Amino acid sequence: MKRVLIATDKPFASAAVKQIAGIIADAGYEIKMLEKYTSKAELLEAVEDVHAIIIRSDIIDREVLEAAKELEIVVRAGAGYDNVDLVAATESGVCVMNTPGQNSNAVAELVFGMLVYKARGFFNGSSGSELREKTLGIHAYGNVGRYVALIAKGFGMKVYAFDPFVSKESIEKDGVVALESEDALYSTCQYVSLHIPATEKTKKSINFDLLSKMPKGACLINTARKEVIDEEGLLQIMETRADFTYLSDIEPGVNDIFAEKYKGRYFFTPKKMGAQTEEANVNAGIAAAKQIAGFFANGDQTYRVNK
Ligand code: 3PG
Repeated sequence: MKRVLIATDKPFASAAVKQIAGIIADAGYEIKMLEKYTSKAELLEAVEDVHAIIIRSDIIDREVLEAAKELEIVVRAGAGYDNVDLVAATESGVCVMNTPGQNSNAVAELVFGMLVYKARGFFNGSSGSELREKTLGIHAYGNVGRYVALIAKGFGMKVYAFDPFVSKESIEKDGVVALESEDALYSTCQYVSLHIPATEKTKKSINFDLLSKMPKGACLINTARKEVIDEEGLLQIMETRADFTYLSDIEPGVNDIFAEKYKGRYFFTPKKMGAQTEEANVNAGIAAAKQIAGFFANGDQTYRVNK
């Protein structure tokens, strides 16, 4: 019998676990749970006898893959898979998938939660500003970027996007202005929302030069990955531009410096929570369970991300 492990340091909502368990049981597989684990040793032990693993931002590195002797598939219930060693997975003959789009609306809604919070002076009682007519740049027009655009239009914002992998037509059919370069996006927009993945190319790519192009009252919103920010450059811009605000769903490594020096110009969620809604957990969890069932039953490899 196939065994499927749900290994989530940050657990899914219980409604999601219930539905994932139902799909796994209906497919005739056994389910194993490892939630809120506190050490890698627990993960290494839990993976020993399983054929499939469902994860979130949990780290699946070479050591974990080597410990998982029976493993055939890992599904990252979510979008970004920079937490999985794809090379090691391929070498171990393990298929890695994600579940694109399933938690995107949740992330986009958090972007606006943070944007309104910032525009209204972090609810400190003083007179804030409105988002209507302000410029918003969407950096990468994937699933999350599209939802961000949809919500931004509702707020009456002027919406721009840059994504070298998406055609101008497909961006502009959403009523969004497609710009030709990162420079153009950052020079045009007071608010920029980041949705790029963390890859060798994008790591530290959001740097001082780029941020310094942003207009007065600049605000960067990061619900993507902290690795894409050049933190030295970020500190430099915070230091040299008193009008610059940073909002992030992922605390930067330089969190203490922000707390010490930039009060009132930043907001960080206490724990990455863009995808922390019951709906996103249910959607991504169900997709992951179904993808595993399809893989074992028919060899379906849609959404495979490693070669
Ligand atoms: C993703 O890549 O899907 C998001 O960053 C959500 O990550 P999480 O499942 O760890 O909340």
